[in-house]
Amino acid sequence: MAKLKVGVLISGRGSNMASLVRAAWDEDYPAEIACVISNVGNAPGVKIARDAGIATAVIAHGDYPDRETFDRAISAELEKHHVRLVALAGFMRIQSPWFPHHWRNRVINIHPSLMPLFPGLRAQQQAIDAGARITGCTVHFVTPEVDAGPVIAQAAVPVLAGDSEDKLAARILRQEHRLYPLVVRWFGEGRVSLADGRVEVKGVKPGATLLFSAEP
Ligand code: GRF
Repeated sequence: MAKLKVGVLISGRGSNMASLVRAAWDEDYPAEIACVISNVGNAPGVKIARDAGIATAVIAHGDYPDRETFDRAISAELEKHHVRLVALAGFMRIQSPWFPHHWRNRVINIHPSLMPLFPGLRAQQQAIDAGARITGCTVHFVTPEVDAGPVIAQAAVPVLAGDSEDKLAARILRQEHRLYPLVVRWFGEGRVSLADGRVEVKGVKPGATLLFSAEP
C-alpha cells in the first residue's frame, strides 16, 4: 500500500520531527516524511532533516505581509510534495484560520501537557506551578484555537518533587518521541477518524490511545 505522505512544520530543535524521520526508516512504517518546512532559517531541525536526506524548505514568516499569505505559501510547498497529513512539531507560528480549514482533519500537533490543561507556552512550568502530580503530552487535531482541538492520544508522566522545568520537559519529551510516531502510524494505517469533535482510532486495543510512564 502507498505510504502516507507527511509534511512536518518546525521552528527549532526538531527532536519530534527527528523521531518521525527515524520511525519512517522502518520499511513497515506506513508513512514517509515527504518534506520538512521551517519558518526559521537557522533552526537546528532543518540541518537534521537535510542530513537525513529529507526535502527541506525555509519559508520565513517575515517575508509575508500577513498570516494567511504565509500559510498559503507553506501550503503550496506541502502540496508540491503531495502531502496528505501535516504534523506540527514545535512550530511556533500561530496560523490563520485558513490553514486548519484548508487542511481540515489533516493537520495535527503535539503539545507538552495533558490537554485541555496548560495551553500556550511553558506548559511544563505551568504544570509545576499548578502543583500537578501528573502531566504529559497530547497529540491533537489542529483547529483555529491555539493548543485546542480534538485529542487523538496522550502520554502521562509524573511530576516529581523538586522537578525543574528542564527535568520535567525532558521526561515529557521522551514520551513525545514515542507518542507522535505512534499516532502518525495510525494515520498511515487509516485508523483515525473524527466525528462530532471526537476522535476514534479504529482497531487498536481499548486504552491504546493513552500511554503511561512512571520513569523518573
Ligand atoms: C515540544 O515540547 C513540543 O511538544 C512543543 O514544542 C516542543 C518542540 O520540540 N510543541 P522539538 O523541536 O520537537 O524538539
